[in-house]
Amino acid sequence: MRFARYIYPYWDKQLILYFCMVFSVIFGLMHPYLTRLIIDYAFIGQDLHIFNMIVLAGVAVYLFSIPIELIQKLMGFFLKTRVSYVVRAGFYRHLQSLSLRFAQSRSTGEHLYRLGPDLEGVVGLIVDTLPSVIILAFRIALLLGICFWLSWPLTLAVLAITPVLYLHTHFFTKRLYHIKKDKTEKSQEISGNLQEALAQTKLIKLFGKERHEYNRYLRDSIDLIRLNIANARISLLQNESGRFINAVLVGGIAYILGYQVIKGYLTIGELTALTMYLFQLLSALRGIGGLYNSVVLKFIAMDRVVQTLDAEVEVKEDPKPVRLRYPIGKVSFKDVIFGYKEGNPVLRGVNFDVRAGETIVLSGVSGTGKTTITNLLCRLYDPWEGSILIDGHDIRKIKLRDLRKIIGVASNDSAMMMGTVGDNIRFGNPDATAQEVSEAARIAEAHDFVMNLENGYDTEVGEIGNRLSQGQRQRIAIARALLRKPVILVLDEALSSLNPEMEQRIADNIVKSTPDRITIIVTHRPSIISKADHTLVLNNNGRVTEQRAHYDAERLLQRQPGIAAFG
Ligand SMILES: Nc1ncnc2c1ncn2[C@@H]1O[C@H](COP(=O)(O)OP(=O)(O)OP(=O)(O)O)[C@@H](O)[C@H]1O
Ligand SMILES: [Mg+2]
Repeated sequence: MRFARYIYPYWDKQLILYFCMVFSVIFGLMHPYLTRLIIDYAFIGQDLHIFNMIVLAGVAVYLFSIPIELIQKLMGFFLKTRVSYVVRAGFYRHLQSLSLRFAQSRSTGEHLYRLGPDLEGVVGLIVDTLPSVIILAFRIALLLGICFWLSWPLTLAVLAITPVLYLHTHFFTKRLYHIKKDKTEKSQEISGNLQEALAQTKLIKLFGKERHEYNRYLRDSIDLIRLNIANARISLLQNESGRFINAVLVGGIAYILGYQVIKGYLTIGELTALTMYLFQLLSALRGIGGLYNSVVLKFIAMDRVVQTLDAEVEVKEDPKPVRLRYPIGKVSFKDVIFGYKEGNPVLRGVNFDVRAGETIVLSGVSGTGKTTITNLLCRLYDPWEGSILIDGHDIRKIKLRDLRKIIGVASNDSAMMMGTVGDNIRFGNPDATAQEVSEAARIAEAHDFVMNLENGYDTEVGEIGNRLSQGQRQRIAIARALLRKPVILVLDEALSSLNPEMEQRIADNIVKSTPDRITIIVTHRPSIISKADHTLVLNNNGRVTEQRAHYDAERLLQRQPGIAAFG
């Protein structure tokens, strides 16, 4: 089992735990027998000496069992917390290493559910359920031995009834399994929808969809209630029919036992002990059903966790990666073919070269693959065919951390994290000094407006930066990219919310601040295009149609009127 490595380091604690559990089982089994001895020899034989001895033994056993139980609970708790921590950490680490594609293939709610209740189930399976199964088997074996020894025909009779108990449990478990699965899926869907609705409050208000969202929530909730009712109905039915079977069993056993005492086959003490043992046996046998239930449910959870664990890391690091310690910065795309879905290429053979100190503009109508080119350069995805080289090394061979370190990206969505303006600028370079931060902000023309905020760089930006204007966020995103001191700077429509003069000023600042950097700008602004060293225009066939230095922007606009709209 792949989770074994998580419990293996704690084998000594496990051993202690099992030891305690075995002792508890044996203690539990001693009581009925002591009772039998008291009745048959002390009470009926009226022997005070034997009575004293047995009571003393009983008290000793009981006192001994208290520290054992204490140790057992402590160990159980320790193991559970530790294993839970390690499993969670491992899972989250894996989740982070998975590709963007995997992250986007499921809703945030689903990922959260896997990280929460599902992992809880897996940990429960490893730490609770598995030991329970082993201990239950041990207990049943012992009980069977004792019962056979005391009265084998009766034990056989009880065993003959077990299949009925099993069928009973199986019948209900199968039905509960499906309902529980639906319930889990529904809960996930609800939390996913809620999360989305809360994150998109503005959109919902602007389009007057509050009522729609509320109704959807109600509908989902009602669906969940329906499932809960179905669940409760089946559970109740299971309990009550179980009680009926139980009553028949208890009645039957009590009658046979009483009959045997009257006929003189059993002593009163044996009757008492046997009654206790048989009921323990029955409850243990029934325990199999309950355990089976919980094992099945936890296996569902495990299935889903394993699905995530098995998801392939799409963008893999080379086993012997090339380090890029002193990058010069030369980027080449060679016949790059790529698409997000099989059979539907977005880029069909893209070629270009950029050298240190050059500025290249990517242009072309929406959806032609400009962002895709930047995604490929950062290795968020790997091309289907062709290769991307930096300083002559295929980026698939470069250490991922080095690659990401030399590229600084600011995109038009200018994502912000919770925290202050300063935290957001420092995101990619937490050790930067205040001076470096303000320097980067100056280049991005952000310093002045930040100083006018109530707390300057210590102003909270709010969730997803909603306390800043679009253009302010964009400038902070540029400062953040610059603070990494990247060799390759990618601005994916990162200036789109700014007025042309400011956009131009920032572009000039950037070129001036580090003249030997490669700057890749996705834009439609003629002023920027005219100053670039190269302009690539992507067309709908996924190819680069125009590739020339100092492109004549006016002519480009005349020929591709679609672009002018963005200008
Ligand atoms: N994660 C994704 N999964 C599937 N398809 C995608 C994904 N991202 C982009 N695409 C598709 O790939 C194509 C190129 O997208 P891309 O974002 O590169 O366009 P773009 O040129 O940057 O457009 P824009 O100017 O609107 O930003 C589009 O047709 C888009 O639908
Ligand atoms: Mg884009």
